[in-house]
Amino acid sequence: MESKILEEVAFFMEVLESKKGRPVNIEINIREAVSNVICSIVFGKRFNYDDKVFQKLIKDLEEFLSNPFLPMVNWIPYLHYVSYIYDVFGTQKCINIVKDLKVQMANIIEEHKRTFDEDDLRDFIDAYLLEWQNHTRENKIQFSEDNLEGVVLDLFAAGTDTTSSGILWAIIFLVNNPDVQQEMRNELTENVGSNRQPLLTDRTNLPYCESVITETLRLGNIIPFSLPHTATEDYVINNYRIPKGSIVVPNMNATFHDENMFLDSNNFDPSRYLDENGKFNERRENVMPFSLGMFLCDI
Ligand code: HEM
Repeated sequence: MESKILEEVAFFMEVLESKKGRPVNIEINIREAVSNVICSIVFGKRFNYDDKVFQKLIKDLEEFLSNPFLPMVNWIPYLHYVSYIYDVFGTQKCINIVKDLKVQMANIIEEHKRTFDEDDLRDFIDAYLLEWQNHTRENKIQFSEDNLEGVVLDLFAAGTDTTSSGILWAIIFLVNNPDVQQEMRNELTENVGSNRQPLLTDRTNLPYCESVITETLRLGNIIPFSLPHTATEDYVINNYRIPKGSIVVPNMNATFHDENMFLDSNNFDPSRYLDENGKFNERRENVMPFSLGMFLCDI
């Protein structure tokens, strides 16, 4: 993953340099760069930023994910049937987008099947095909074309929008807080220098940079209500009964703005995670943008 990110950052920097200091809206390029890292890992290929098919893929994905009906259907699944009768919030278009995305994923998978070589695994799809091939008949039930299409689409969708929104939030916060920018720069200059890109192994030496990322994920609050889950048993929590089968929606927003934990919670303040020696304090553990429990996003 690290090598793919470093490679993509180099492409992204080329785009910025080509603008020669002129103002530029980098949103689309950031989305493309993030998506390219995921595409490289999942499909084994990156796209040029001006590739029309790629641009459409990202635009469609964004349109689908920003549809206000989507969280509503997630919370109240029966609303799904409404979309077949009334085209509320342009849901019909979203359904067509997903169909279209699935066709594109199916084509990519088909191409992989045609050129599959178990001695030369190129990406996630090849790894899946190998597992599928090697699995015993009893277990094969878990592997299917439909499942692979779903997983590939899930990775593409879940990874692109979240990460690019996080980076865009970071840029907004840094533009508005030049002192934080300067402190990050000082830490990077001191610990990494300016002759190479930062690596994952540098992470332990960059507590301030990591605090900036943590604070960005808290205040940027990319998935304010995480994803809904279903209670598998009856539960009682704080005297509230949660019957088996209820849809449970985690309110991440409330935890990110808990004033007991994050004083002046609307302020962007990375130093809140560091003690007087520059080491992380316990507040950092209370920022859980990737959710928690069995389904946490542990990428
Ligand atoms: C800043 C970046 C990201 C954030 C804040 C984030 C956050 C989350 C959260 C809160 C969930 C819900 C977990 C739950 O069900 O309790 C989730 C699920 C998921 N995430 Fe992430 N994520 C990020 C990046 C990524 C990336 C880069 C990938 C993959 C390339 C990814 C793949 C997934 C997948 C596959 C799921 C499960 C989706 C499903 O159940 O359909 N995420 N993520």
